[in-house]
Amino acid sequence: MNQNIKIFEDIGQIAEEFASTVQKLALKNENNPVHIALSGGSTPKAIFKYLTENYGTKLNFTNLHFWWGDDRCVPPFHTDSNFKWANELWLSPAGFSDEQIHRVKGENNPKEEAIRYSEEIKKYVPTENGWPVFDLILLGLGEDGHTASIFPNQMELLKSNRICEIATHPKSGQKRVSFTGYIINNARKVIFLSTGTSKSEKVRQVIDERDLSLPATHIRPANGKLIWWIDNHAAEFIGEL
Ligand code: 6PG
Repeated sequence: MNQNIKIFEDIGQIAEEFASTVQKLALKNENNPVHIALSGGSTPKAIFKYLTENYGTKLNFTNLHFWWGDDRCVPPFHTDSNFKWANELWLSPAGFSDEQIHRVKGENNPKEEAIRYSEEIKKYVPTENGWPVFDLILLGLGEDGHTASIFPNQMELLKSNRICEIATHPKSGQKRVSFTGYIINNARKVIFLSTGTSKSEKVRQVIDERDLSLPATHIRPANGKLIWWIDNHAAEFIGEL
């Protein structure tokens, strides 16, 4: 596995890197669809806001398709919806069409929605090794080491033979639809985004210690690249082992 760690000074620099990655993917694949899975969390929100303020509609390539690696089982206007924030802060102002946006329908019954979303993925995303291949999956790192909605008490989701599963937040009990381990590890590129001092110890445990009790440590794309985009606060303890 190919791993690359980039450390940035601020969220603006990370957003610039994301903009350039998206642009390159869109141009390189010309008329072929490019499938990108977004994540929830505070870091992507700040990136989306930056993109709208600094790029307007400039990243509106018609071959880009957006998905979510996880979303909460709530309606699309709910403040917990990952779709809502990405859509309001970036996708809608950037002018992407409805056909390019593949959201988890959080208002549906979670079990049925996990199946429906998996079917939508199978319909649009090309397959290799029996699993859909996303061009890019963005992930966050939770303070408990979770990623997408794979929490430490549901490690079995890493090895599920389904594309999506229902996850349950360990504290709130909130239901979510999440990508499973194999689909994430079959992507061409997986980018972990992590910012802030509160993440520095977990970042170290995943990158340096390779602590396998944390779901994020199990993300190792088989044929793709694993990339970390982190700010210098989150990177504080890396390399101290
Ligand atoms: C979610 C996520 C989740 C998130 C991390 C990091 O919907 O909760 O997709 O995995 O990415 O919790 O969140 P922050 O960016 O807020 O640190």
